[in-house]
Amino acid sequence: MTQEFSRRSLLGAGALGALLPELAIGRAPGISSTQIEAPVDETDAAWAPVRALFMLKPGMAYMNNASLGMPPRLVVEAVAAGYEAISREPLHGKHDLQEIIATRTIPGLAAMFGVEPDEIALTRNATEALHVQATGLALRPGDEVLISTQEHPAGRAPWIYRQAADGVVVREVFIPSPLETAGDVVARFEAEITERTRAISFCHVTRGGHMYPVRALCAMAKRHGLGTLVDGAQAVGQMPIDLRELGCDAYSASLHKWILAPSGTGFLYVAREARDRILSVFQPAATAGNPGIAPGGTADFPVRAATATALGLVNDLGLHRIEHRCRFLSDYLKAGLGDLRGVTLLSGPRDLSCPGSTIFEQEGRDAMAAVPWMEEVGQIHLDEHQRDGHNAIRVSTHIYNTTDEIDRLLAALS
Ligand SMILES: Cc1ncc(COP(=O)(O)O)c(C=O)c1O
Repeated sequence: MTQEFSRRSLLGAGALGALLPELAIGRAPGISSTQIEAPVDETDAAWAPVRALFMLKPGMAYMNNASLGMPPRLVVEAVAAGYEAISREPLHGKHDLQEIIATRTIPGLAAMFGVEPDEIALTRNATEALHVQATGLALRPGDEVLISTQEHPAGRAPWIYRQAADGVVVREVFIPSPLETAGDVVARFEAEITERTRAISFCHVTRGGHMYPVRALCAMAKRHGLGTLVDGAQAVGQMPIDLRELGCDAYSASLHKWILAPSGTGFLYVAREARDRILSVFQPAATAGNPGIAPGGTADFPVRAATATALGLVNDLGLHRIEHRCRFLSDYLKAGLGDLRGVTLLSGPRDLSCPGSTIFEQEGRDAMAAVPWMEEVGQIHLDEHQRDGHNAIRVSTHIYNTTDEIDRLLAALS
């Protein structure tokens, strides 16, 4: 379906043309879909117009983006317009939303991550994608898969299922927190490979913000003839990512965290070359526009179509600028934490920690109790991080946060 046809069809749909304004429709994958000027530097002043796009309750400092991101108003409006469209004219509405998904959302994701549209399948979240990729990998009883000790339950659970259902042996490789060096992470995985090992499965960015050396891990795994399956839930949207360059076979992502898409959005990438090794119970449903690796059927079309709007905004801002802005804020936070007594930063060196998430412990502070307390005293939303034996607080700052909000947090901690 050409771009022009798609556009005509949208506008020709009567009510839908009016309901889905230019903002919601976007223009083309990889091209601007908003009127937002890219900020000239990383400062709060330059990003103030971007902050103004969000609907957050006045006075609230939301620093829990790693749990759930905030879609900006234009994305919320695109979702609403889509639901209105399928409610007023279900037949045309559905068709036109499917058009947006097929011509903008999926190609937009493919362009953003350096792959082909038929390598991308939309899912409801990373959890669904992680299950499809892990349950789809061709394995025999006794075959081994290595995962890290830092996996999210959504990344670990499908392997535990395969262990029980298929006799696959799942071995967990201990990875320290903070990470020591990229070489150390690779060496720890490589040391656990046996002649029965068939694949490694790990996070790109962990819940605590540790960033794994994905390219080096995939290259090492390839040398041993192993499959590589990656959990990118915490990575996409924080920085530019080229999936082809990373070299993994499969990659699962959430779009409702750092990419600012509506809640209930994610994708699964399966490299064409890996398609014969990563099958899916949905495979028989494969068609030209749908690789058949993810659940098909009627979906939340308005939400998926509105994802194109979020991608347009991210393109307008530029992932490299988003990365710099996130780094600027977390560097500011880390410098402030360094001035506080009793604080131990657990985020690790810059090349091994993601731009937006910071974890730390504070002597005498129970992280679990700190979360509701911060909300109560300062309207500050954070999360605790009780993994890897830590009693840590996680602060995940995104482009819309400000140094004033971080100052408020530092003041509360002190
Ligand atoms: C590393 C990691 N993987 C997977 C998930 C699950 O993501 P979703 O809620 O999109 O299924 C999360 C959610 O926080 C996560 O942090």
